[in-house]
Amino acid sequence: MFDIKIFENLTLEEKYQSMLSALRGLVDNSDSQTAKLANSSALINALVGRLNWCGFYLDNKKELELGPFQGMPACTKIPYDKGVCGKCYSTKETIRVDDVNAFPGHIACDAASNSELVIPIIVGEKCVGLLDMDSAELSRFTQLEEKYLKEAVKLIEKYVF
Ligand code: SME
Repeated sequence: MFDIKIFENLTLEEKYQSMLSALRGLVDNSDSQTAKLANSSALINALVGRLNWCGFYLDNKKELELGPFQGMPACTKIPYDKGVCGKCYSTKETIRVDDVNAFPGHIACDAASNSELVIPIIVGEKCVGLLDMDSAELSRFTQLEEKYLKEAVKLIEKYVF
């Protein structure tokens, strides 16, 4: 059973630390990559909050393909050189966008999105996919979110791929 109440009354840092502990349990608790990524997206979506989309795109060796997510239906394929996701994939760098409308080539899957954080999943030297989060708020993602969500992706790299 998952009880969101245990995360109430925590500071933001405590909440994100607890999110990492919970994530560690979820990704070490199944053999299925789909199950682990689905639960990871549900946990992150619930705990980070104020997100309208949270999920994974995975390298299928031809392009980035939609993986488990929370939110509205989204583009199923993204070319390696398109959008914020393609930039993240090709540079292997985290990309934080305060205003997606000002990002050349941004792919609008949900018209409500205004800011975005995309973190590459790196295994060995290769980018095998990415964690993508969108918010309807401008500048939703700060250095604090970037720090803890990069930690979350480290757990995903270790236990899911
Ligand atoms: N905005 C992304 C596309 C994926 S959706 O946000 C779910 C991009 O520009 O790559």
